[in-house]
Amino acid sequence: MLLDAREVNVRYGRNHAVKTASVSLDHGEIVTVLGANGAGKSSLLKALLGTVRADGTIAFDGTDISGWSAPRRVKAGLVMVPEGRQIFVSLTVHENLLMGAWCRNDDPERETEAIYERFPNLAERRHMPASVLSGGEQQMLAISRALLAKPKLMMLDEPSLGLSPILVKQLFDLIRDLNREGLAIMLVEQNTRMALATARRGYVLELGAIVLKGRAKDLSSDSRLEEAYLGGQSDRASS
Ligand SMILES: Nc1ncnc2c1ncn2[C@@H]1O[C@H](COP(=O)(O)OP(=O)(O)OP(=O)(O)O)[C@@H](O)[C@H]1O
Ligand SMILES: [Mg+2]
Repeated sequence: MLLDAREVNVRYGRNHAVKTASVSLDHGEIVTVLGANGAGKSSLLKALLGTVRADGTIAFDGTDISGWSAPRRVKAGLVMVPEGRQIFVSLTVHENLLMGAWCRNDDPERETEAIYERFPNLAERRHMPASVLSGGEQQMLAISRALLAKPKLMMLDEPSLGLSPILVKQLFDLIRDLNREGLAIMLVEQNTRMALATARRGYVLELGAIVLKGRAKDLSSDSRLEEAYLGGQSDRASS
């Protein structure tokens, strides 16, 4: 098993955002984490990455990393593409890419060339500020930057947000390609249908707790999936 997180809790003051959630992921697996707005998906990913305080135990690639800082987790191969991409718009495309290699001691030249081969649009604009990129290209850049950290597990937080249907399809094709090349992926998505068509297994969060989990194809036909969304939202609306 590549990731084995047990009984993770995240609290923001009195807001218990992730409630005793356990998630795991095998080598080479795509796992999706679904749930309504505010369900705790991003908080769970941040807890795994180590950028929010959390309790519980997290094992990664056979090592207990619970006490590790986020940079140390990234160096070990646990990497996140955050919600909203978070690229540096005033830096060039190339400079953004190199930011992804901060955790390495070796020369990332070979990998940057491989990325430019994969994404000709990035190659053409490598010396331009990242602000010239379209939303889809910015997402490709954010994923490419994460790849430069040589991840074993890439966590993607709502990568399809704001992309047109064609770009969403390209994005999911890319996710599948990266997975075929051996990368394990944890995918947080609002696009439930695409996520379940791409992942092998899934977890559904409602108000911070995992209320449903299982094989993606079973989840996609489970009536409780929709209830988790509606339930979470109506509870929030009335609270
Ligand atoms: N930094 C923070 N400080 C305080 N509360 C927070 C913080 N971040 C998130 N929360 C709260 O924690 C809960 C879970 O938020 P989180 O962002 O993890 O949900 P999410 O499932 O990612 O939602 P979305 O689909 O909108 O991205 C929400 O009630 C949210 O308001
Ligand atoms: Mg979120």
